[in-house]
Amino acid sequence: MAIAELKSESLLEYCKAQSAEDSPVLKELEKYTWEQEDIPQMISGVMVGNVLQSIIFMTGAVRIVEVGMFTGYSALKMAEALPENGEVHTCELMEKHVKTAESFFKKSPHGKKITIHQGPAVQSLEQMKVHSFDMGFIDADKTNYLEYYKRCLTLIKPGGVLILDNMLWGGDVLDPHDDDAWALRKTAEFIQEDKRVFNILLPIRDGLMLCIKK
Ligand SMILES: C[S@@+](CC[C@H](N)C(=O)[O-])C[C@H]1O[C@@H](n2cnc3c(N)ncnc32)[C@H](O)[C@@H]1O
Repeated sequence: MAIAELKSESLLEYCKAQSAEDSPVLKELEKYTWEQEDIPQMISGVMVGNVLQSIIFMTGAVRIVEVGMFTGYSALKMAEALPENGEVHTCELMEKHVKTAESFFKKSPHGKKITIHQGPAVQSLEQMKVHSFDMGFIDADKTNYLEYYKRCLTLIKPGGVLILDNMLWGGDVLDPHDDDAWALRKTAEFIQEDKRVFNILLPIRDGLMLCIKK
């Protein structure tokens, strides 16, 4: 491993060590995901999770829409930061992931705040009410990111926050060679031109695009 790479790995570990820890249920969920899932790296993890919780604490968000639940880490992480009447509406295609996530949501007092919408996210988002959410988190199939952004932006209220994960795609957005990298690049360029939002692309983990709806 190159020295620069080693240093950035060590710095990331240092950042994690100096940041709020996950709850015991989330630690168990993450361990399960890394041990049992075929593509465990899809989990967002504590750095992204702590950013999501920080936004909730700072904005007082109560209703959240999520696109891409996987084993439920980010949904539960956000639910933990919400008040008692808070709601996370999360979209997930695969039944296997729904079952896993449900088994962990049952172990947490915050699990009751989460509603799972199983099926293709575009269809689930179509059923949701315009201006009914304070915050959105997009973290599903990359080729649909622009569609998810457009739909979620109509679902959140003015002043609400929309966050998109994986916007650096391991650096491939700089020189896209496949559909995923191109889709993420096009989504970033669309957002950059979108006058309806104030946006910042943060180099946290794989890139978090933060958009505040004007
Ligand atoms: C990167 S993972 C989500 C990770 C999750 N947010 C977390 O922090 O653990 C992406 C998820 O999106 C789901 N997905 C992919 N295409 C989808 C679609 N069209 N509709 C809904 N979910 C989809 C996948 O099954 C996968 O579980």
